[in-house]
Amino acid sequence: MADVFTFAPDRKALVTGGASGIGLGIATALRGIGAAVAIADLPAALDRADASATGALERIAMDVTDDAAVAGGVAEAARRLGGLDTLVNSAGVFQFRRIEDIATAEWDRMIDINLKGTFLAMREAMPHLKASKRGRVVNLSSDAGKRGFPLLGAYCASKFGVIGLTQAVGAEVAGDGVRVNAVCPGTVAETGMGKVVIEQKIELGYGATAEEVVRRGAESFPLRRVGTVDDVVAAVLFLVSESSNWITGESINIDGGSLAG
Ligand SMILES: NC(=O)c1ccc[n+]([C@@H]2O[C@H](COP(=O)([O-])OP(=O)(O)OC[C@H]3O[C@@H](n4cnc5c(N)ncnc54)[C@H](O)[C@@H]3O)[C@@H](O)[C@H]2O)c1
Repeated sequence: MADVFTFAPDRKALVTGGASGIGLGIATALRGIGAAVAIADLPAALDRADASATGALERIAMDVTDDAAVAGGVAEAARRLGGLDTLVNSAGVFQFRRIEDIATAEWDRMIDINLKGTFLAMREAMPHLKASKRGRVVNLSSDAGKRGFPLLGAYCASKFGVIGLTQAVGAEVAGDGVRVNAVCPGTVAETGMGKVVIEQKIELGYGATAEEVVRRGAESFPLRRVGTVDDVVAAVLFLVSESSNWITGESINIDGGSLAG
């Protein structure tokens, strides 16, 4: 990947939700292109993270729903990295629920983590990104940020919101040299969230075993497989790289053709 795209030297990146799954894959890949990288996540997730996978990363305990924690965490990341020019918002949660059964607290939690958390991290990081004159934001939306799926009212609302936020802020800060984009993955089964999706699909009767759920999921994608962390990492690296310098406010589908029809 690093051989294909060109990158500004010495990037300084913060990845929320970086202790697990897609966020950890992105953080590791950014280290691989020579960036200094901090991961921000819940304390329990940082404790669970494999020390060998996160050894080269700065670790910051930060709940993305908490104003003060995000302000403190972003400031700490900028202090430890010597500035901040890249923000990846990967913290997120998922839940299947019929609309009649979504408790208000569940709705609030989904919107708070997936949407408000993305806003708070962007708000706190923006002065640093502007000061760097080469700022990049990549937000994790979803195929569920572009079309509705049954039982995903709250998740879809949060991920549609991330795309709107990405477009609005992308247009707003372009003149400051900051590009803001999103990626929209379909099912990535190998992450923490992927496992949650599989467990909930088994409960809902989509299959008897994880293997069956994944096989059925794969059949639903035109490219006939589910996604991988590496599929998402490739698109994020492109958006961070200098090879995408005329792209902002964009939301790239990484979904095996699912949104194409
Ligand atoms: N896995 C998929 O199929 C899929 C598909 C489309 C989009 N996404 C998006 O990709 C992103 C990463 O998901 P993943 O699949 O890697 O799942 P994951 O569960 O492995 O990672 C999510 C991370 O977010 C962290 N997190 C949750 N709440 C937090 C909070 N309040 N503050 C800070 N961190 C918090 C978790 O601790 C975890 O480390 C999410 O935004 C998700 O919606 C995932």
